[in-house]
Amino acid sequence: MSATLKYHGHACFSMAANGKRVIMDPFVSDNPQAVEGVDDIEVDAVLISHAHSDHLGDGIEIAKRTGATVIATYELALYCQREGVENVFPMHIGGAHEFDWGRVKLTVAHHSSSIVTEDEIRAISNPCGFLVTMGGKTLYYPGDTALSADIELIGRLNDLDAATLPIGDTFTMGPEDAIIAAKMLGAKLNIPMHYDTFPVIEADPHEWVARLESDGLNGRVMEPGEEIELP
Ligand code: NI
Ligand code: MN
Repeated sequence: MSATLKYHGHACFSMAANGKRVIMDPFVSDNPQAVEGVDDIEVDAVLISHAHSDHLGDGIEIAKRTGATVIATYELALYCQREGVENVFPMHIGGAHEFDWGRVKLTVAHHSSSIVTEDEIRAISNPCGFLVTMGGKTLYYPGDTALSADIELIGRLNDLDAATLPIGDTFTMGPEDAIIAAKMLGAKLNIPMHYDTFPVIEADPHEWVARLESDGLNGRVMEPGEEIELP
């Protein structure tokens, strides 16, 4: 049993196993860290944690071009459908579903979810995180969230092979809180995300990984474009 994880920069990852690939928070065309072009992304499902532009990103366009299914909270999935996505699968926090490529469970995220245009600021659904199981490997992708006691429960109930954790502060948990989250989760591997994309979320991922390892946990800084085998 095996699965790979690829980093696309910011909070965008894709996970692949058995010839299927899913992408989480496909912020590509406006992502200064992205290596691939948006037209190079080929996926079977698009998981979107919340509607902020650095997460919804190119999700609608990618789903329309590839025929991938958008998996998101109820209102955000319906929003994508109204924007022309053919295949959507609305879910909600606490719920899990088995797809032909793997399993997804939506987790609590402490954040917001909105679309901001010149004319209005519109809240759309709740933010969430994802537990994704493919090829026998389980990833916790928390989306944008604060540290909370919910994370301890996720760690207690799941045998996690990897966790991606925001470390950029300001809008999400920062480096200190992400260390506490990693301890609560007990994942085999911890990967930092949501940093350095914009000046206001600058952080040192190598220092963060060194601190994790001094506490006996495993961490790895992924470079945009890099793909690794999950432990
Ligand atoms: Ni956000
Ligand atoms: Mn964000």
